[in-house]
Amino acid sequence: MKFDIQSISDILICPKCSSNLLFQNESISCNNCTFHFTIDEGILLSNPENSITDNRILKEKEFYEENPFPNYDELESPFSLISKAERANFPKQINDLLPFRIRILEAGCGTGQLTNYLSFSERQVIGTDLSVNSLKLGNEFKNKHSLDRSMFIQMNIFEPCFCDESFHLVISNGVLHHTPNPELAFQILTKLLKKHGYIIIGLYNKYGRLSTHIRRIIYNLTGSRLDFLDPHLRRKDISEIKKQMWFMDQYKNPHESSHTFEEVIKWFESNNIDFVSAIPEFDFGTTNKNIFAKQNIGTELSRKLKQLLMVFKRYNEGGFFVVIGRKRA
Ligand SMILES: C[S@@+](CC[C@H](N)C(=O)[O-])C[C@H]1O[C@@H](n2cnc3c(N)ncnc32)[C@H](O)[C@@H]1O
Repeated sequence: MKFDIQSISDILICPKCSSNLLFQNESISCNNCTFHFTIDEGILLSNPENSITDNRILKEKEFYEENPFPNYDELESPFSLISKAERANFPKQINDLLPFRIRILEAGCGTGQLTNYLSFSERQVIGTDLSVNSLKLGNEFKNKHSLDRSMFIQMNIFEPCFCDESFHLVISNGVLHHTPNPELAFQILTKLLKKHGYIIIGLYNKYGRLSTHIRRIIYNLTGSRLDFLDPHLRRKDISEIKKQMWFMDQYKNPHESSHTFEEVIKWFESNNIDFVSAIPEFDFGTTNKNIFAKQNIGTELSRKLKQLLMVFKRYNEGGFFVVIGRKRA
């Protein structure tokens, strides 16, 4: 399956006015306004800073230009991406359980590990992010290992450059809570999803995030990075550069919000998305063997208890939860 800029001309639109684009040799410009993409080593750059009016988005962009997340270390290879995906489980499940020849969007892909990993199989995977420096790292990895089914595009989620219903799967992991309006960002992403397509979102949990907030206060008071306090920073299998990016992402980020299971259920309901499953599960007695298989959504009580348990979990990845949904017909 050929995957180059020309091959996505059917889904790409102008992020400013949603008009069709004109593809001519090495340039892509809007038919209707002055917008054009610039192309840098195969990455499509939309230069969103020219039109972003919300200072919070600009600050996030600046932050992730300086601190591309999660970053790569010199030992990272396709093989290490595969073994990490197997340990993390959920990327492997996406890879194992979804059909080939589908289009996937990762919105807020950071340095593109998941985008590149998912492109190993016969699928078109587009990683988008605000941060050019993050996209460049993902693209370097892609080129170094001759991956030809991933592509990187600079996109602000609030100004999408794709037609509605372009993707079979949309993933946005750890991104919406860094935007000024996570619910609106979610709504925009669901529009890009085909009917019956899946959406996977990862967010900070209001309860699960408590221990991070406490550590942040301690770090700010002591003015130092006390690695032993954070389970992720204590790990021996992570390089110093990745630990540094984790520390910045978790404790020095200019903006973050945290969310509850109930909130996400409401977002799903008002955007025509059926709940499929969650990590951690919303109910007791269910296990996540297949994230695309319908799970019990639980009760208000089970969801409250499950969130409270996140407070006491020894290693809770920064109080993170993932919810998988499916667009109705
Ligand atoms: C914590 S990182 C997550 C990266 C990746 N998804 C992961 O799980 O490793 C958050 C990413 O969201 C991106 N981001 C924040 N606001 C965004 C927006 N409005 N549009 C697109 N990307 C955004 C940042 O540039 C950053 O790369």
